[in-house]
Formats: sequence, structure tokens, C-alpha cells
Amino acid sequence: MQLLVRKAELKDVKTICEILQVYANQQIVLARDEADITYYLKNFSVCEVDGIVRGCVALRDFGNELMEVRSLAVNENFKGMGIGRAMLNFLIEKVKKEKKDVRIFALTYQDKFFQKMGFHVVEKELFPEKIWADCEKCPKKHHCDEIAVLLEIKN
Ligand SMILES: CC(C)(COP(=O)(O)OP(=O)(O)OC[C@H]1O[C@@H](n2cnc3c(N)ncnc32)[C@H](O)[C@@H]1OP(=O)(O)O)[C@@H](O)C(=O)NCCC(=O)NCCS
Repeated sequence: MQLLVRKAELKDVKTICEILQVYANQQIVLARDEADITYYLKNFSVCEVDGIVRGCVALRDFGNELMEVRSLAVNENFKGMGIGRAMLNFLIEKVKKEKKDVRIFALTYQDKFFQKMGFHVVEKELFPEKIWADCEKCPKKHHCDEIAVLLEIKN
């Protein structure tokens, strides 16, 4: 099994949308349509398994040394094969090369997965940027039960 993580391209938009939709239907990730994914394409990376895109992730830069992992998803049939780890490592390595001190957070139900990747659980209220940017659109905005996780990268 050959894994390749790379920056997303226009040809990936439809597949990214399909991968996310499955979990958006379960209210695990925020729904994103093709226009939205295309607009924010430069934030996205994908993981190919034997040449076919099976996972995606986006990294949003809030501009003040704060970044968010979002839209992280692996095709149902390909979970548990290291794709999530490969994508997060790709982002972390990229950030380490580019920035000095950076905090990367996520709001998730997969805190155990993130903890394996070196993140630790923190209070959601640490990230007001997120609240203003996305929560308004979220169906769970008045009963958010996601867990905030944070990775601090110091160079
Ligand atoms: C969460 C998700 C991205 C993980 O990706 P994945 O490719 O299945 O995970 P990996 O195979 O890379 O796992 C890496 C490690 O985390 C562990 N792990 C993965 N999911 C886990 C979970 N739900 N609970 C506990 N450990 C988990 C794996 O066992 C592995 O540990 P190991 O090396 O000790 O065996 C994937 O399961 C997914 O798409 N879930 C649905 C969408 C979602 O919840 N996205 C997160 C939104 S922020």
C-alpha cells in the first residue's frame, strides 16, 4: 500500500467533498460544498492510497501564530491504516519548516487520535477565533460537545 500526502489540486475538489459529506451527515465535521472547498483549496492537503485520494485535511491560518486543523477525514474503508497520521505529520513538518512558534488546535471527537499525534486536551474558550469564524454555521452551536486539542510547536 503506497501512501502519498500532497497539496490538494483542483482535480481533487469533488473527492474531498465526497469524503467530507459522509461525516458531515453524521455531524462529525462541518459540511463544505465544492465552491467552498475550491475557494479554500490552498489550505487543503490530500492523501492518495495507490494513486486514489482517500483522505483530506485543511489547515487554516488565523495569522497570529495560531492554526486550526479542520476538515480532517479518511474514507470509511481506509480508516486505521495510518492515513490520518500521515496527513497530520505532513502538516506538522510543513509548519515546523515555515514558522517559529505556532499553536495548532482542533475541535474534535477524536481526541485520542490527536493525543497520539502529540496534541493535548485544552479548554475550548482558548480559541475565540474559531467561535466567530465557524460556530455560527454549525448545527451544534448551542450544544457543542467537541473537545479542543492543541499542539504547540516551538522552534
Ligand atoms: C480521525 C481520523 C482522521 C483518523 O485517521 P485514521 O487514518 O483512521 O488514523 P490512523 O490510522 O492514522 O491512526 C493513527 C493512530 O491513532 C489511533 N487512532 C485512530 N483513530 C482513533 C480513535 N478513534 N480512538 C483511538 N485511537 C485512534 C490509531 O490506532 C493509531 O495509533 P497506533 O499507531 O498506536 O496504532 C479518521 O478516523 C476519520 O476520518 N474519522 C472521521 C472523521 C473525523 O472524526 N475527523 C476528525 C475531525 S477533527
